Amino acid sequence: MAVRPFIVGNWKMNGTRAMLSEVRAIDRASQRLMKVEVALAPPFTLIHAAHKEVEQIGVGAQDCHSGDGGASTGDVSAAMVLDAGAKFVILGHSERRQGHDETNAVVRTKAASALAAGLRIILCCGESEAVRDAGKAEAFVLSQLSESLPDGLQNASEMLTIAYEPIWAIGTGRTPTVEEIGAMHRAIRALIVDSYGEEQAQGVRILYGGSVKPDNALELLSDDEVGGALVGGASLSAESFLGIVLAAAEIPD
Ligand code: PGA
Repeated sequence: MAVRPFIVGNWKMNGTRAMLSEVRAIDRASQRLMKVEVALAPPFTLIHAAHKEVEQIGVGAQDCHSGDGGASTGDVSAAMVLDAGAKFVILGHSERRQGHDETNAVVRTKAASALAAGLRIILCCGESEAVRDAGKAEAFVLSQLSESLPDGLQNASEMLTIAYEPIWAIGTGRTPTVEEIGAMHRAIRALIVDSYGEEQAQGVRILYGGSVKPDNALELLSDDEVGGALVGGASLSAESFLGIVLAAAEIPD
């Protein structure tokens, strides 16, 4: 792994204040694993409380609205999550694309608003099983990403992370091979170089996500182009999440 690995937990619609003990345990252990950048994205309701608990790890949001504020019942703006203590936001997760009809254009607008508010973004992409079976995974992911990436981003290396998450691998226990992940990440890297230039692109980490567990993390993270992991189910307990962080710490520079 050429860059400092980034391991991000996505708690999805899980977590009440009772789970702040997991946040604390993850944070304290991460202080001894400085080689790895660790972050958690709890639900909106826990961002502020989690932010108050941590000394080392980052806290982020799983989504934000593209608007600045106003008459939009139930929505939360980028400035609001920043104010609650979020440093980053996950955007374009397949569960939002599918369950909330988020198009690439919507994701791109959200990305622009988040960046304007000062949030780093983790932009998700990934193909369905049907698209992979049809041999079109790379073309699909590249067009999804190029339509979702914000224009004119000057400091991509600092502000942008990509998460490649094949939909068929999320929560299923199935994963692509290391070679398939490596090939997709190289194609994504080429797109990022085209979009933001070689120098900025070098610092952009491309995470893999989809059924990452402590026992497969070392292998899934082994390709040089894999800059870390976006972890769902296995991030809900400190024990399993830290198993993944430990695996990332073992990968030679
Ligand atoms: P999973 O989810 O680790 O439970 O497969 C990953 C994600 O959706 O980010």
